[in-house]
Amino acid sequence: MDRIRIVGGRPLNGTIPISGAKNATLPLMIASLLTEQTLILDNVPRLADVVQLQRILGNHGVDVMMSGKRSGDDEYKGQTMHLSAARIVDTTAPYELVSKMRASFWVIAPLVARMGEARVSMPGGCAIGTRPVDLLIMALERLGAAIEIDGGYVVARARNGLRGGEIAFPKVTVSGTHVAVMAAALAAGTTVIENAAREPEVVDVAECLNKMGARISGAGSPRIVVEGVAKLSGARHSVVPDRIETGTYAMAVAMTGGELVLDGARPELLQAALDVLGRADVEVAPTNRGLRVARNGAGIRSVEVTTEPFPGFPTDLQAQLMALMSCARGTSRITETIFENRFMHVQELVRLGARIHLDGETATIEGVERLKGAPVMATDLRASVSLVIAALAAEGETMVNRVYHLDRGFERLEDKLARCGATIERVSS
Ligand code: EPZ
Repeated sequence: MDRIRIVGGRPLNGTIPISGAKNATLPLMIASLLTEQTLILDNVPRLADVVQLQRILGNHGVDVMMSGKRSGDDEYKGQTMHLSAARIVDTTAPYELVSKMRASFWVIAPLVARMGEARVSMPGGCAIGTRPVDLLIMALERLGAAIEIDGGYVVARARNGLRGGEIAFPKVTVSGTHVAVMAAALAAGTTVIENAAREPEVVDVAECLNKMGARISGAGSPRIVVEGVAKLSGARHSVVPDRIETGTYAMAVAMTGGELVLDGARPELLQAALDVLGRADVEVAPTNRGLRVARNGAGIRSVEVTTEPFPGFPTDLQAQLMALMSCARGTSRITETIFENRFMHVQELVRLGARIHLDGETATIEGVERLKGAPVMATDLRASVSLVIAALAAEGETMVNRVYHLDRGFERLEDKLARCGATIERVSS
């Protein structure tokens, strides 16, 4: 199992190209099931989750073709993926596939909307929380689907097709919003979604669906209206840049010192996180290529942050911020409100010398002068990258184990950091 070896203490300087967003790519690929025609996605990141979803879509009959390299393409250019669901040959998503990646449960929406039936394995447990799918099921029921739970599978039927309706989410849910929007796009009549998620990935999916002929308005606001259409067509769409990858590298250079230009980043997609970095005395400035982030000499100021749905501070940057605050001046507090078990990184950061006290959903971090390298264990995608960030600033060597978590959501992380001066390498064992 691969590990990553890091020797800390070197500032980061240079340019890092930001990849397409994992959390937009996955629902966009799933949206290809809504049409018989070809959906072309540009700026697709090279991630384990993307490969896994290709397998899952292939099982339903989707042909996936990747364009080859073109002359002049730089090595970090995103991929172009052609997805064709001309014929859906199987409306079952088996446990063996779904259990490997939760987001694949979302195929239930386009399958029941287009085929009138879907049989999808429940995703099962997750390291960061219970993560039920009750609100996704509620949304489909509001659109007229008959739902049955059978042997660990959710069976959804709508023999006469879905029909528009009112969906009011009791809490903000990204997956619930994706499922509601995709299903409503082919439902007869109008659907109104209240308390919808406003994440940029929801906006990106709605933009792509509208290029396919859907009639969606209000994406990015709490109230989304979808006028159902009978059929959707093919389209070409470029995946939005990854705001979580952007925020991660911004926190890395804040941790190590130095200056980075994050190429292709869109600062407005993570303004809350950039505001927090500003409060922590980190220099952040938009540029015509993306974002410049620097910290030269000045220490890191402690902050108080609570994670919230967009446009609040993203839970997917909580662990990275905690790593940064472990070397801040004074006491920081970070409250996690989205997932009930998203502090798996705390004890690993403590192994590196951080002083963190947990009390329910709040972590109190007493800043220390310097962390010290040690062997640590990755537990989930974002927790693992917080250990990498901490190790980049720690004294001596750190070995990060179980890095397969990282490959799920960060494209060529070691390359991108090494080209900016980090001593980091993958060790295969
Ligand atoms: C998406 O997960 C992202 N995943 C997560 O990123 C991200 O942390 C999360 O949104 C919040 O921003 C992808 O896009 C693939 P939710 P999702 O539905 O959609 C509860 C990463 O690191 N809930 O907004 O599953 C749920 O348990 C991942 O890239 C219900 O109770 O999140 C959670 O507490 C991790 N019932 C809260 O709502 C439901 O039916 C928000 O979940 C659905 C959700």
